[in-house]
Amino acid sequence: MKESSAVIERIRQVNSQYQQLELAMVDDALVRLKPGQSLLARRIDRNPEIEHWDPYLREHWWPVGMTANKTLLIERPMAFQYEPQQFVNLLGPIGEHYKFRKSLRNVLLVAYDTEPTPLTIMTPLLQKNGVSATLVLLGKARDYDTTHLPPTLEVIRGDDKLAWDGQVMTLGWADQVFIVTGQDDELYRFAEIMAMLREKRLDIPANYAFGVFQPIQPCGVGACSACMLRLKDGFAPVCTKGPAFDLTQVILPNL
Ligand code: FES
Repeated sequence: MKESSAVIERIRQVNSQYQQLELAMVDDALVRLKPGQSLLARRIDRNPEIEHWDPYLREHWWPVGMTANKTLLIERPMAFQYEPQQFVNLLGPIGEHYKFRKSLRNVLLVAYDTEPTPLTIMTPLLQKNGVSATLVLLGKARDYDTTHLPPTLEVIRGDDKLAWDGQVMTLGWADQVFIVTGQDDELYRFAEIMAMLREKRLDIPANYAFGVFQPIQPCGVGACSACMLRLKDGFAPVCTKGPAFDLTQVILPNL
């Protein structure tokens, strides 16, 4: 993980709710980011003598890919305002890349009450390796506009009870499931999803259901303990050991 700077070269609205930033002058270490790794970003002044500390905490950015011009693409909600030629200070890569099974054929992505960006970033890699992927949107995630996503990614919108058409079949078909939930109470929502998985499947094996955690990460290097996650065999900082954890190993609340 290192600190570097880059410049927002271009901003493009990709759907009704999201924009993509094209970052130029990106450090070489960030050109090789893998799906699952992210950035902590702060807007800065072109003059390095002038420091900006508002907001104090960095924004958590998920790179969605590289362009042919070697600019890094970042997806951000339209509610955040950026300017072309804006300089940014970056910490990254944050975390470890997603780990897939060797004999992977089908992946299920589930977004519950949050945007699916931390999951959809893996779809180009899956497609390149001939792995099929289905994205299920639950709760507030059902409002996410998917028009900019690749047409090969199947998208299903669930109902109010964490159910969707063909649910048992998709859960049985998936070799791995990656889940992302609303940040205000991730543990409770992951517990809800695990309860649903247990109800629909007889057994949840290890390395099947992975929660992608997005706590507030002030330092990004495992030093402040703000992102510590309680596991069955101890504690782990999400910023260095995450973001994906096997949910059978995470201590979740009893519902
Ligand atoms: S953000 Fe400080 S320990 Fe993870």
